[in-house]
Amino acid sequence: MFKLENISKQYKGQQVLKAANLEIGEKEMISIMGRSGAGKSTLLGIMAGLIKPDSGRALFKGEDLTHLDEETLAGFRLKHIGIVFQDFKLIPSLSVYDNILLGIYPRRDLSKSDKAGRIHGLAKRVGLEHKLKEKADNLSGGEKQRVAIARSLVNQPGIVLADEPTGNLDAATSDSIMSLFRELHQTLQTSFIIVTHDREIAQKTERTYIMQEGELI
Ligand SMILES: Nc1ncnc2c1ncn2[C@@H]1O[C@H](COP(=O)(O)OP(=O)(O)OP(=O)(O)O)[C@@H](O)[C@H]1O
Ligand SMILES: [Mg+2]
Repeated sequence: MFKLENISKQYKGQQVLKAANLEIGEKEMISIMGRSGAGKSTLLGIMAGLIKPDSGRALFKGEDLTHLDEETLAGFRLKHIGIVFQDFKLIPSLSVYDNILLGIYPRRDLSKSDKAGRIHGLAKRVGLEHKLKEKADNLSGGEKQRVAIARSLVNQPGIVLADEPTGNLDAATSDSIMSLFRELHQTLQTSFIIVTHDREIAQKTERTYIMQEGELI
């Protein structure tokens, strides 16, 4: 469903990605490891259409993203891509409900009650239905990441890109977040890419790539 072909990217003469190739199928869950600065976040940015590669193709269901204009890319991202960050990126003063809503509010093709239904359904899946009215600021790190995961899924994307989603969490909380990803992966029609520095986390996915010298091996 997503295929990267010979992706290259340099910053000011520094060749970050050389000839990166990656293929992930429908409903697959894979992980990417590699040293700091290897280019993992850059690669996810290219898949999300946030970063233009210098060359190569990024094919989502056969369509090459690398030539799309900004507006088309924004629409593509909203509909098909979910993103989860290490630092959650919630709005602290807003409720859990409103933080999840943020993932979906620009959609005009969904009614208010459709949106509410999705938010309640996802809050239940991530185990936070009893906290929907709580301010994000008042949640634990693990709970914040659960909200961010719900937000990433509210558009029913084809793929979720998670950039070190357990990087700010202790070992036990990381385990519970990984169990949540696995459960979601088993029950949803969504693919997941998990970038991690933790071998145990990577081992819980179906396949692990290593980013090394600008390539995925
Ligand atoms: N916008 C930018 N301008 C200049 N250099 C950049 C930019 N973005 C990334 N880089 C450089 O590209 C390299 C790869 O960065 P990237 O963030 O993709 O690495 P990473 O594998 O995600 O690292 P980490 O594990 O620390 O998150 C780094 O050397 C970084 O400094
Ligand atoms: Mg990174």
